[in-house]
Amino acid sequence: MWWGHLDREDPRGWKWWILNGHVFPSQDRRAGDLMAPNRMLRKRTLYKSVCLALALLVAVTVFQRSLTPSQFLQEPLPLLLEPLKTQKPSGHLVNPNSFWKKPNNVLVPTPVPSQGPQTWDITTTNCSANVNLTQQSWFQGLEPHFRQFLTYRHCRYFPILMNHPEKCGGGDVYLLIVVKSVITQHDRREAIRQTWGREWETAGGGRGAVRTLFLLGTASKQEERTHYQQLLAYEDRLYGDILQWDFLDSFFNLTLKEIHFLKWLDIYCPSVPFVFKGDDDVFVNPTNLLEFLADRQPQENLFVGDILQHARPIRRKDNKYYIPTVLYSKTSYPPYAGGGGFLMAGSLARRLRHACDTLELYPIDDVFLGMCLEVLGVQPTAHEGFKTFGISRNRNSRMNKEPCFFRNMLVVHKLLPAELLAMWGLVNGNLTCSVKLQVL
Ligand SMILES: *[C@@H]1O[C@H](CO)[C@@H](O)[C@H](O)[C@H]1NC(C)=O
Ligand SMILES: *[C@@H]1O[C@H](CO)[C@@H](O)[C@H](O)[C@H]1NC(C)=O
Ligand SMILES: *[C@@H]1O[C@H](CO)[C@@H](O)[C@H](O)[C@H]1NC(C)=O
Ligand SMILES: *[C@@H]1O[C@H](CO)[C@@H](O)[C@H](O)[C@H]1NC(C)=O
Repeated sequence: MWWGHLDREDPRGWKWWILNGHVFPSQDRRAGDLMAPNRMLRKRTLYKSVCLALALLVAVTVFQRSLTPSQFLQEPLPLLLEPLKTQKPSGHLVNPNSFWKKPNNVLVPTPVPSQGPQTWDITTTNCSANVNLTQQSWFQGLEPHFRQFLTYRHCRYFPILMNHPEKCGGGDVYLLIVVKSVITQHDRREAIRQTWGREWETAGGGRGAVRTLFLLGTASKQEERTHYQQLLAYEDRLYGDILQWDFLDSFFNLTLKEIHFLKWLDIYCPSVPFVFKGDDDVFVNPTNLLEFLADRQPQENLFVGDILQHARPIRRKDNKYYIPTVLYSKTSYPPYAGGGGFLMAGSLARRLRHACDTLELYPIDDVFLGMCLEVLGVQPTAHEGFKTFGISRNRNSRMNKEPCFFRNMLVVHKLLPAELLAMWGLVNGNLTCSVKLQVL
């Protein structure tokens, strides 16, 4: 496996690239060259965003006048679905310059009947604060958000507010894409639906469909709750791709999101061969993901991403990932996949659910999942195509904007919605790269 020397500004890398018939030198390209095609895409994006925002506004007004859904759906819906119709799914997975292997015929495992409940069995939130802690002096010395985390650490499952039991209904889903999102980031969800999160009836090579879901909690600020909740309900009515649970969407509650998703998968999507789980600010190349999966077996212990080995808990209090020793006293974490995105086999995900149930919740979700993998004795696999820290760790490096690199990656962190749309347009457009990378 050779991915080229992408972390360094390698002189053997791309010397030029072509877009719409124009040749751009790669190394000394001025930023302005990239901007021309980007500007057009941005205008289009802006236009779409404005349209959606307007439509959502109309929708909320209609909601507040409490009309029945069928009444308001008659008017704005056809207008909103217009951009969707023009995006035919057939084009975007076809990569004319693909050097990836042709997909083989893949065995899809026979569904294993689920042992547990067949529906979400948590219907009320009945979880009181753990008052035992408040008397302890070590607890009183902690920062407020750690105290909040520990006070409710024993509350593991919450009711589901928006569900899509039908998502894996036909049983023909090959890859389920799930994206961690928060209620206010609808522009990111919109960009993902238009790019790498687009659903597919077939993954090619006789494989099943590609389906996408967004994972949400409730708004963490009271003033956001009422308005955004109505917008979210409307968004879900349009796209049918929101899973929402009744817990606050805070940084430390991301671990709750992890275990809620694993439980959901076990109940509603038990036989899906593969799952991709990612953030809402990454670039994903689904063509490459599917080619990567073509040689994989669903029964493998597949867990692949940007793996951190021997990472140490951060003890500096001003860091977002700071962890006090009372919460974790060992000097290093088990191997885990850095946030951003990872790929796992569905059968492993189901075993992970039960492994996670044996552990106390840990405030950092990626690390927590690494702990669950450790319980199972499964080693996560590192892959060069997952770039959790951008293509080059030097954030100002021009390589982080180089479409030829993105074409050859699986996942790249981190892009704003406009950047994602622009890069998607470049990678899937008239782009010719001077050098092809050998990947598998
Ligand atoms: C690609 O480039 C060719 C000419 O170089 C042009 O005719 C064609 O319209 C372009 N396609 C897209 C999608 O921009
Ligand atoms: C919540 O649980 C406690 C015991 O854990 C029980 O006494 C109480 O009745 C429950 N409340 C509701 C509303 O279910
Ligand atoms: C608090 O302490 C009591 C007695 O030690 C124990 O039974 C109970 O489970 C504890 N509560 C929690 C939430 O851990
Ligand atoms: C997680 O969500 C629960 C339920 O909404 C909430 O009670 C708790 O305070 C949240 N925890 C953190 C650390 O935000």
